[in-house]
Amino acid sequence: MNDNPFYEDDLEVRNRPEPCTLVIFGATGDLTHRKLVPALYNLAEEGDLPPGLNVIGFARREKTDEEFRSDLEDLNRKLSRRGHQDALWGPFSKSIFYHQSEFQDVEGYKRLAERLDQLDREGGSGNRLFYLASAPEFFDDILTNLREAGLNQQRENGWSRVVVEKPFGIDLPSAKHLNQIVSDTFPERDTYRIDHYLGKETAQNIMVLRFANSLFELLWNNRCIDHVQITCAEHLGMEGGRGGYYDKAGALRDMVQNHLLQLLSLIAMEPPADLSADGVRDEKVKVLKCLRPMVGEKAVAENVIRAQYTAGNVNGEPVVGYRREDRVNPGSMTESYVALRIMIDNWRWEGVPFYIRMGKRLPKKSTEISIHFKHAPKVLFNALPGAEAAPGNVLVIRIQPNEGISLGMRSKLPGPAARLQPVKMDFEYQTAFGGSGPEAYERLLLDAMAGDATLFARDDEVEQAWAFIDEIENAWHKSSNPPPMAEYPAGSWGPKEADLLLKERDHQWRRL
Ligand code: BG6
Repeated sequence: MNDNPFYEDDLEVRNRPEPCTLVIFGATGDLTHRKLVPALYNLAEEGDLPPGLNVIGFARREKTDEEFRSDLEDLNRKLSRRGHQDALWGPFSKSIFYHQSEFQDVEGYKRLAERLDQLDREGGSGNRLFYLASAPEFFDDILTNLREAGLNQQRENGWSRVVVEKPFGIDLPSAKHLNQIVSDTFPERDTYRIDHYLGKETAQNIMVLRFANSLFELLWNNRCIDHVQITCAEHLGMEGGRGGYYDKAGALRDMVQNHLLQLLSLIAMEPPADLSADGVRDEKVKVLKCLRPMVGEKAVAENVIRAQYTAGNVNGEPVVGYRREDRVNPGSMTESYVALRIMIDNWRWEGVPFYIRMGKRLPKKSTEISIHFKHAPKVLFNALPGAEAAPGNVLVIRIQPNEGISLGMRSKLPGPAARLQPVKMDFEYQTAFGGSGPEAYERLLLDAMAGDATLFARDDEVEQAWAFIDEIENAWHKSSNPPPMAEYPAGSWGPKEADLLLKERDHQWRRL
């Protein structure tokens, strides 16, 4: 507890969401249904929403406010984290409205402007939060028309901000183009690029673990850390028609460019000067600038493995191979798995490999980061039975599920014989706090309403990450001698080629 009487107030003020009208573009889409509306409902249930919040769903289909509310109610019943109470939904849904328009039709935006003014006259706050949750090909039209209708302008009686969903471009040129049209419409300080991994409690806790404890940061460098592994395993494949999107993206663009490079940046960054959005993001960008580029087929073949799943079994169920999935090209060269060895060329991390792997149709859903410390000197205990098998010190940050942090170490097995045994100290969110806290989207919506962009990606962060990813994509898709596509049976831990990536240093993927 800080005894400074202003301290808590200050924190509160910084994080207090302000009343606004939230306009969701793509209001009949999957993201609105699965994430945004349940997140808003849960916030309402916890009493965290600012009073006077209005929500306008903007989409192409014809619908009345009542029909829209009733569709959302059905979905919320199924998807809300905290269940669904009619008594709460009733008043909550009264502030939800529907606005029908084509994304390309500027007249629809002019009508939207009138509607927003009308809501403000009826007691609305004057603040507007525009959320781009549509398919990305409409972002350009939406931003242009917001501008044409004057909806981007800052007014005396309220702010206007924009939230942009991923994917933020498909490569560096498209990300730059999108950044350009966003910045033609809203200043960077009013732009919130979503990366929902940053909203996860466990990801937010990385900075606290490192910079609020004296123990770890002293060891957090190439003198003590041997290597780092970041694993994101998913058991799902291409359910719900996702194949169409995914086959154009692939694991590298879908997860590594954004979520996993964000986790890597949080692990590798220097302590920020302060906790302001730019203080934190300045340090993350520096990490991305220091990623050793993989230029050309040879560098990519040596440091990156791509693979597709073949038919197999997941959770006891037979599943088809990637190329037989719905909406996937039968001759597809899109990776459903990727493993990388990344080097960070800066003072702190010289010589420390960061291994990243991500795959669909692996045996289970699990995301974790493991920090592998260097071994103790080989004198004394390393000749003892069990020493070889007992790994050294490994700090594991479990992002999801079973959120927590554990520290593995070696212990003497009780008894007369001198024998080493691996043991661990374990912190579980469930045990310590009764759970891991709000859903990522809940936190991120509140932050956008509060004007705090710390957990959102900045323009230069996104571009820097794409610059790194583009070199790999180019070697795969634009070169005359592209590195091969490996295979792994669905339900396995990925292709054997990914093990070879670690062999050179005698490392092994951690078993999850
Ligand atoms: C999304 C990706 O951004 O993140 C999906 O497009 C992926 O392919 C999802 O499954 C994973 O998110 P989470 O929160 O379930 O780990």
